[in-house]
Amino acid sequence: MNQLQLFLPCAAGVEELLAEEVHEITGLQGEDLRSHRGGVLVRSSWRDAMRLNLHSRLAQRVLIELSNTPYRNEQDLYEAASNIAWEIWFTPKQSFKIEVTAQHSPLTSLNFAALKVKDAVADRFRFKTGVRPDVNTQWPDVRIYLHLTTERATVYIDTSGDALFKRGWREDKGDAPLKETLAAAMIAASGWDGTTPLYDPCCGSGTIAIEAAQIACNIAPGSLRRFGFEKLLPFQPHVWSAIQEQAHAAEHEPQTQIFGSDVAFRMVDFSTRNAERAGVAGVVEFRGGDALQRMPPAESGVMLLNPPYGERIEVAGVAGRREAAQTEDGSGDFFPQLATHWKRNYAGWTAWMLTPDLKLPGKMRLKESRRVPMWNGPIECRLFKFDMVAGSARRTTDAAK
Ligand SMILES: C[S@@+](CC[C@H](N)C(=O)[O-])C[C@H]1O[C@@H](n2cnc3c(N)ncnc32)[C@H](O)[C@@H]1O
Repeated sequence: MNQLQLFLPCAAGVEELLAEEVHEITGLQGEDLRSHRGGVLVRSSWRDAMRLNLHSRLAQRVLIELSNTPYRNEQDLYEAASNIAWEIWFTPKQSFKIEVTAQHSPLTSLNFAALKVKDAVADRFRFKTGVRPDVNTQWPDVRIYLHLTTERATVYIDTSGDALFKRGWREDKGDAPLKETLAAAMIAASGWDGTTPLYDPCCGSGTIAIEAAQIACNIAPGSLRRFGFEKLLPFQPHVWSAIQEQAHAAEHEPQTQIFGSDVAFRMVDFSTRNAERAGVAGVVEFRGGDALQRMPPAESGVMLLNPPYGERIEVAGVAGRREAAQTEDGSGDFFPQLATHWKRNYAGWTAWMLTPDLKLPGKMRLKESRRVPMWNGPIECRLFKFDMVAGSARRTTDAAK
């Protein structure tokens, strides 16, 4: 189990950040660590596969590549999957499921492709052991991934189980929660290192602040959950316990404070409960309040937020009440007012905002110092960086004269 080919899928735009994270977790580099479209390829051990599941904040899952072959039709897929020694990974008493993803595959039915791979796995077990494993599409013990491109078929066995964004602490969530992996990608892109105050003034269920608080305390993102690898045959409980203990021993007190606030008090309750479950209740301070009125919680620091936008979640508070000023996107004059508030009161802060609205800097009459492309599921977004320098309010006022 020393030379596994792993693939860690991630959101588009996050590949380089994930490669850096994998390097930090495993020390791997060069040929053993290559970023790829939609993920990172890693040549490493079973032990590192477990450690990546436990420590990665950016990967969606950790897959082990078992076969990569050219194909033309479903029969080729059957052959490829039949040649894999499934019996070293699981037993026919365990249930499994095939998941298919494809990019420009010539096949007409991906369901039929999945069926052929399912048959190949079950037939191989029957041939080797006399028993066919069951398929369970809802709660499988083992997940098998088939990825098809125009000419090649790759078969993976999954080691994560539930997707890695499910950390196990976010039981309360609002209407448009960010995936934990995307919140972590925003933090990574901002370069925040846990030593300066961090504040999310539109915190919703607290995802960004809680991810940040865990980073500040070096709490592993997977410390509260279970993983698919625990059901695979190479799994050795004592090795896994030692990895978990090592991670736990490396947790420490934070060097800074983290803050979140939201105009909806219900969200503040949700965030508080989520932070308790995540083990960071004493590290993040959540409060109610309108982002247009809240004063800075520290002299300087980093703001990270995905503000309310358009159809999924509306602006509330002072700006939301001004119906006369409602604009096409439903944000009213929230963004210009937010910019004015920040310019007046947040000198010394840096704000990073994730939004699908590419015209946001124009609406805020602010010039971004960086823009990072990121995808929120299927929605193309930008993470804009705004530097709030002392005196910028005066300059804007003067310019407006
Ligand atoms: C897109 S959601 C943020 C989701 C959050 N990142 C999460 O993962 O749950 C936007 C949040 O902004 C809040 N909001 C709307 N208007 C606000 C205002 N004027 N001041 C502060 N928060 C506001 C909403 O209540 C909502 O929770």
